[in-house]
Amino acid sequence: MDLIDRYGRTVRDLRISVTDRCNFRCTYCMPEEGLNWLDRAEVLTFEEIERVARICVERFGVDSLRLTGGEPTVRAHLPQLIERLAALRLEDGRKPDIALTTNGATLRNIATELRNAGLDRINVSLDSLQRERFLAMTRRDELDNVLAGIQEAVTTGFDKVKVNTVVERGTNDDEILDLATFGRDLGVEVRFIEFMPLDATNEWERQKVVTQEEIVAAIGEVYPLEQIPARGAAPADRWRYLDGHGTVGVIPSVSQPFCGDCDRVRITSDGQFRTCLFATNEFDLRAIMRNGGTDDEMAQVIIDAVATKWAGHQINQVNFIRPNRSMSQIGG
Ligand code: 5AD
Ligand code: SF4
Repeated sequence: MDLIDRYGRTVRDLRISVTDRCNFRCTYCMPEEGLNWLDRAEVLTFEEIERVARICVERFGVDSLRLTGGEPTVRAHLPQLIERLAALRLEDGRKPDIALTTNGATLRNIATELRNAGLDRINVSLDSLQRERFLAMTRRDELDNVLAGIQEAVTTGFDKVKVNTVVERGTNDDEILDLATFGRDLGVEVRFIEFMPLDATNEWERQKVVTQEEIVAAIGEVYPLEQIPARGAAPADRWRYLDGHGTVGVIPSVSQPFCGDCDRVRITSDGQFRTCLFATNEFDLRAIMRNGGTDDEMAQVIIDAVATKWAGHQINQVNFIRPNRSMSQIGG
């Protein structure tokens, strides 16, 4: 049975946050001192995560599983979870696509292990190519490690390696072109993300958002571009470099919300099922699991939750309410 919401959208993608902890402190996400981490006992075990994923894959035809955090690679034994998820099968026998979003700090050492465990794709965050600025934005002096990690991911042969760049006006918007060039040279797709009001310190302001239009104009001025039609359910709009040097994407969450095509649901590291990054309600799957609930009961809660999925987030409305958790607590 497909999970279809009130607006006719079918759920195909489950984003799984495996930890709320992180070894970085990106200014657009976390305060310097970090957040109040969950106790270990509150975080879902691999068995529990697998159970949620199994229900979504086997019963509801979810064919895409993305691991996020916090920083997913700080969770001990992550490859073991990937192996379990890679062993799941849809009703028609297909294997779900397994992806990971990481800050890349330790990727150089673990890329091969992740690949061997069954990871298909990888997205690495990179907001600056300048050491001082990278340090200012992430509060960690890890640029060289992240660059080495991206290189290693490319060499390891994932189906796709993508680079995610959050653009903030006055902070790194002068590097759009340099980052685009970096992606062209390495043969990876850079995806520029509009800064969203999901930072823990509440410093988001509309004027700090560099819009898709501005980003594409900055790149297109130097490298002529042609838009690739048919975005489907993916959040990124994509462009092709006319000289054949690959593609570039923009995730226009603020200026052009793509909620109408959204096929995503999420589970937080403490087992709360959410139908939107910006949702203000959660469904407690952990409680069901830890109180001896059945798969049928869990499946029913998932169905009920999806029935509440709203048409779209309200960032651009005056009555927008920020979710009371930040990006690292929900899972990017
Ligand atoms: N706005 C936009 N993107 C964000 N990310 C984290 N916080 C924000 C924000 N406030 C990004 C990270 C990572 C992905 C999981 O989400 O940079 O690429
Ligand atoms: Fe960590 Fe990602 Fe948040 Fe940066 S954006 S602090 S890498 S969870």
